[in-house]
Amino acid sequence: MQQDMIVVLDLGSEQNTLIAREIRALGVYSEIHPHDITQQQLAALPNVKGIILNGGPNRVVDGKAIDASRAVYNSGLPLFVVDHQGEVQPSLPNWPQKEEARRDALRGFIFDTCHAQPNWNMENFIADQIDLIRQQVGNKKVLLALSGGVDSSVVAALLIRAVGPQLTCVHVNHGLLRKGEPEQVVEVFQKQLGANLVYVDAVDRFLTKLEGVADPEQKRKIIGAEFIRVFEEEARKLDGIEFLGQGTIYPDIVESGTKTAKMVKSHHNVGGLPEDMQFALVEPLKMLFKDEVRACGLALGLPESMVYRQPFPGPGLGVRCLGAITRDRLEALRESDAILREEFANAGLQGKVWQYFTIIPDFKSVGVRDNARSFEWPVIVRAVNTVDAMTATVEELAWPLMHRITQRITQEVKGVNRVLYDLTPKPVGTIEWE
Ligand code: XMP
Repeated sequence: MQQDMIVVLDLGSEQNTLIAREIRALGVYSEIHPHDITQQQLAALPNVKGIILNGGPNRVVDGKAIDASRAVYNSGLPLFVVDHQGEVQPSLPNWPQKEEARRDALRGFIFDTCHAQPNWNMENFIADQIDLIRQQVGNKKVLLALSGGVDSSVVAALLIRAVGPQLTCVHVNHGLLRKGEPEQVVEVFQKQLGANLVYVDAVDRFLTKLEGVADPEQKRKIIGAEFIRVFEEEARKLDGIEFLGQGTIYPDIVESGTKTAKMVKSHHNVGGLPEDMQFALVEPLKMLFKDEVRACGLALGLPESMVYRQPFPGPGLGVRCLGAITRDRLEALRESDAILREEFANAGLQGKVWQYFTIIPDFKSVGVRDNARSFEWPVIVRAVNTVDAMTATVEELAWPLMHRITQRITQEVKGVNRVLYDLTPKPVGTIEWE
């Protein structure tokens, strides 16, 4: 491993992630570990130069006072006790509230006390991961479900570099992707990066399963279950697969809450594959935050449109084509979404607005087109900003842009005669409509 490491010990503070990110911003790698880390676990971590005991307001957890394990005190490593509530602890430094002062305090500890090297960067990360993947996988085969989302795309790019010929990527087109997405996956991964890519056209299969199903939960269940079935069928056709690539990232592992000992979550269920199909996981992004995943993707040569892709729900357009999905409405949804994305890009809003998309309801309204009565669907535009998707505010779009979007959608999208803008923040609304 190339990088020095500072461990942030989780003593029940909500600021673990913040501190780890501040350390990484100073160019030094940092990981968060539970307060009861054992001597063995600590010894297994490479290049640890110091430990931050991140105490603070929640040191009593579930009614129990908690402290760092003996292993930490016995390690001989420099310790820094962070007390960001100003709790009085004799002879221990307080944790400054101001960002700049915090940086200075961290800087002093990391560089002057621990003598850590600022050698955390994407080139070193990628070089390390390639070594680690090769060590883990050996000459065995790896399978990856490549959705085209940021995380799975970056995992694919890393695995191609590390063990390209041993990797098979499976891209399932369930018919609920945005315009141009399946084509981009094939273009980038198969044509440009030379991946072994199995492209599965499962559009008819999914739409048939979804026919007449109007209940949102039911739709989600069908899409999820069918996805696993298709993936499993493809996996069974391949011989000798022992590993499954996963786009797990650090926030999936570290809870932002104050659960201390329960900090490390169990990993996502591996797509619910059947018992007899147990693979070992390869998760090269599991220590990265989302912005670092994007930086890694760019460093590996993925296009910006892929790396800065907006969040997109697993069930895709299926939860934006309200009620029972029909092909004509789905098509109108896909086309209107493409126009919206194009207009946002032209207006310089791409990457500035957190998430924006269209929704199509399952009712029609009366309008006039070419001097005749029309009876067509409306399209709803949603554009929101958020930090963590738990709450969201509505983007204040400029009128000229709204007019242009309305004009283009009503002129270019077959079967649509109205455009509405959803002004509802979350809460009360959710970001998606289903
Ligand atoms: P809501 O609608 O709950 O959405 O306010 C919050 C964020 O989560 C995304 N979302 C999903 N993402 N699988 C996903 O990976 C899903 O089933 C799913 N449902 C909602 C949504 O797009 C928004 O960014």
